[in-house]
Amino acid sequence: MESATIVLFGATGDLAKRKIYPALYNLFIEGKLPSPFSIIGLGRREWSHDTFQSNVRQSLDRFSRRKPADPEAVQKFAAAFRYSVLDIDRQEDYRKLRELIESREAELGVAPNRLFYLSVGPEYFTTIANHIQEGGLGSEEGWKRLVIEKPFGRDLQSARELNRELSRSFAEEEIYRIDHYLGKPMVQKLESLQQANPAIHALWNRQHISNVQITANESVGVEERAGYYDRAGAVRDMFQNHLLQLLMMAAIQLPHASSPDKVRFKKKLVLEALEPLSKENVAADVVRGQYEGYAAEPGIAPGSMTDTLIAARLRIDNSVWRGVPFYLRTGKKMKDKSTRIVFEFKEPLKTPWAKDAERAAPNLLVVEIGPKEGITLHLNEKDSEGDGTFKPLQVTLQAGQEDAPEAYENLIYDAWNGDPTFFAHWDEIELSWKWVQPILDAFEENLVPLHPYAAGSYGPQESDALPEQDGFRWLFDDKPEIPTEIRKGDLYAYHAND
Ligand code: BG6
Repeated sequence: MESATIVLFGATGDLAKRKIYPALYNLFIEGKLPSPFSIIGLGRREWSHDTFQSNVRQSLDRFSRRKPADPEAVQKFAAAFRYSVLDIDRQEDYRKLRELIESREAELGVAPNRLFYLSVGPEYFTTIANHIQEGGLGSEEGWKRLVIEKPFGRDLQSARELNRELSRSFAEEEIYRIDHYLGKPMVQKLESLQQANPAIHALWNRQHISNVQITANESVGVEERAGYYDRAGAVRDMFQNHLLQLLMMAAIQLPHASSPDKVRFKKKLVLEALEPLSKENVAADVVRGQYEGYAAEPGIAPGSMTDTLIAARLRIDNSVWRGVPFYLRTGKKMKDKSTRIVFEFKEPLKTPWAKDAERAAPNLLVVEIGPKEGITLHLNEKDSEGDGTFKPLQVTLQAGQEDAPEAYENLIYDAWNGDPTFFAHWDEIELSWKWVQPILDAFEENLVPLHPYAAGSYGPQESDALPEQDGFRWLFDDKPEIPTEIRKGDLYAYHAND
């Protein structure tokens, strides 16, 4: 890894404390950061270098997955941090920043490679990027990169404007757009699962899979972010970004060794093949929900129509997935916190006249992304001890790691290394907003009913109805089993799809 400086805007903020410093520390402990390295934090508060360093140390005690054990290592880590006060509109502050970057580079012998990490609200992205450009903060002798976080716009038009502005200062290949779901270890494993396993790759298509379910449920509510959330809703907060990224990773076809460009190109193909919605027909495939009590939460507008849950049925119109419904859902205040992808296999051998005892549960490939992690294949075996019926057999393909790195560790490491594989390309962002735009319009114009649901439930009945309309049901919800019955759609589908 090349030596570099991280210039962190928003260094006194919550994300920096909770995620960025602990991630950097864990990379440091594992010897994954180059030596030497320099980190410069920026914020509005009048902090000294010492105050900043002690805040960094405190954040490790509170939030790092590895509690700092060795005081000498912590000391060495914190010593790489410097602080500078910055008012984002004041040119003078950027001049001082440049001097600080250059003097630290000279002092430590760090190459003039600079990674500008904007851990600030999106309304500041353009101003900061322009100042970086105009103030010559990138050096001709090294590389410069820009790391930004969602939200990337709030609709198609604003996303395009933002991108146009940013591209005046940074080239596409210099922009690293973080979607932290792409940093999650099990999401990253999806890429290699197909590539390394021809047997799995052979099954990863419409011939063998009846439906795909992507869930990202949370048990928490809106918490302290009412102001932001009430304007965003689940569709902007989770669906347009995290859920569509999971969809791309689930539907991507990667039979051979790949490069970052190829992965991102293939992801783009998935979005391009999504059957578009029109504002008028959104209600047929999209369910909007709000947990009971949401509108009475502090900071939420009374009578708010904001969605805290969205469930949707998507269709990918390409030769691999045509006819396979993808069900996506995400909600706040759900029964449990769980993010997973389930691929349900067809049952070509099932005959309508089979006796109960001859019926086996459908095979499943289950990718548990969080908080539980792992990839499991659910099969059946004959219960030779019992009455000859089938019993489940689970084969672990990928065990979750106890001390798995956090998403931010993977992402900061990759950005530092210049590997954009798990960052969102502009094409993905633009296509995802384009696909979501009719949903935003339909919600705005109340063309889709808002269904209330009880806090601590699995959402409104209408969300369950989406897969049920096709003869499926959300798997792994902790609800009483629905008796197995012959499902419409998947019977003989193997032959019908040939
Ligand atoms: C964020 C959303 O992007 O993701 C939050 O803004 C949400 O509302 C969070 O809680 C969920 O992330 P994770 O990693 O806990 O699933």
